[in-house]
Amino acid sequence: MTTRPYYAEKGLSAAFYDTVTAVDTRLEGDLDIYARLAPAGGRILELGAGTGRLTFALAERGFSVVGVDIAPAMLAQAAAKHAELPSAIAARVELKRGDMTVLDLKKTFDLVICAYFTLAHVPRGMAWKNTFATASRHLKSGGLAAFHLPLIDIMRLPGPAESSQPVLDQPTATGGRILLFVRERGFREDVGRMDQVIEYVELDARGQALRQSLERQTFYITDPVPLAAPAGLTPDREPIPLGDVGEVHVFLKA
Ligand SMILES: C[S@@+](CC[C@H](N)C(=O)[O-])C[C@H]1O[C@@H](n2cnc3c(N)ncnc32)[C@H](O)[C@@H]1O
Repeated sequence: MTTRPYYAEKGLSAAFYDTVTAVDTRLEGDLDIYARLAPAGGRILELGAGTGRLTFALAERGFSVVGVDIAPAMLAQAAAKHAELPSAIAARVELKRGDMTVLDLKKTFDLVICAYFTLAHVPRGMAWKNTFATASRHLKSGGLAAFHLPLIDIMRLPGPAESSQPVLDQPTATGGRILLFVRERGFREDVGRMDQVIEYVELDARGQALRQSLERQTFYITDPVPLAAPAGLTPDREPIPLGDVGEVHVFLKA
């Protein structure tokens, strides 16, 4: 079986993103953290909006939100959910395909968010600097940018001792199950990079395998503060702990 990148077309990480994320307790409370950073009814840009988990929830809370993502498979799901929203909420959301390292919408926002380890998906160094520049370019003076990053000690952890045991086993909407197995995991200290290969197996209601997909996921980590500084972003407060595995770094654009 070939190994796909995460969120690829026909990959199961994109197809089951909402099923898997709905039971991810490490994200509990992230919506409240981001909502508190913007003024009531303010404008928010989400970089790496995925299937719109936060984009739509923030719009439901009265914010106007532009959600940008690079992966068509994720945006297709966001678009399908957008079409089902009540019109007053749908009108506050705009979805766009784009790369957060180069994006220029020629608009400014009260808050830019980059949630659930999205910045960690691009190489630390120039890609992080460019993403901070994107955030800064889209912020008005006094605006905030929030980046949720994983903790390095969590990234260093080895994979499960028994790789034949699923790390997740969830019912699917069609009466089957989706199982996740960590097949490989490793961390390279010299480049701050964690690579893992996850196998997704979809079972039907009788427990027969319907679809399988091996997918490679990469996370980079480093101190974001020196890379945000050239973009004019300075830490606004101590990082906000989230779910014991990460923290939200909040930056101010002067
Ligand atoms: C873990 S998901 C987060 C989705 C959503 N923010 C959430 O919290 O549920 C990461 C998303 O970042 C997107 N992404 C990765 N690199 C990107 C880039 N350079 N520009 C825009 N989106 C990117 C992926 O396609 C994926 O949808």
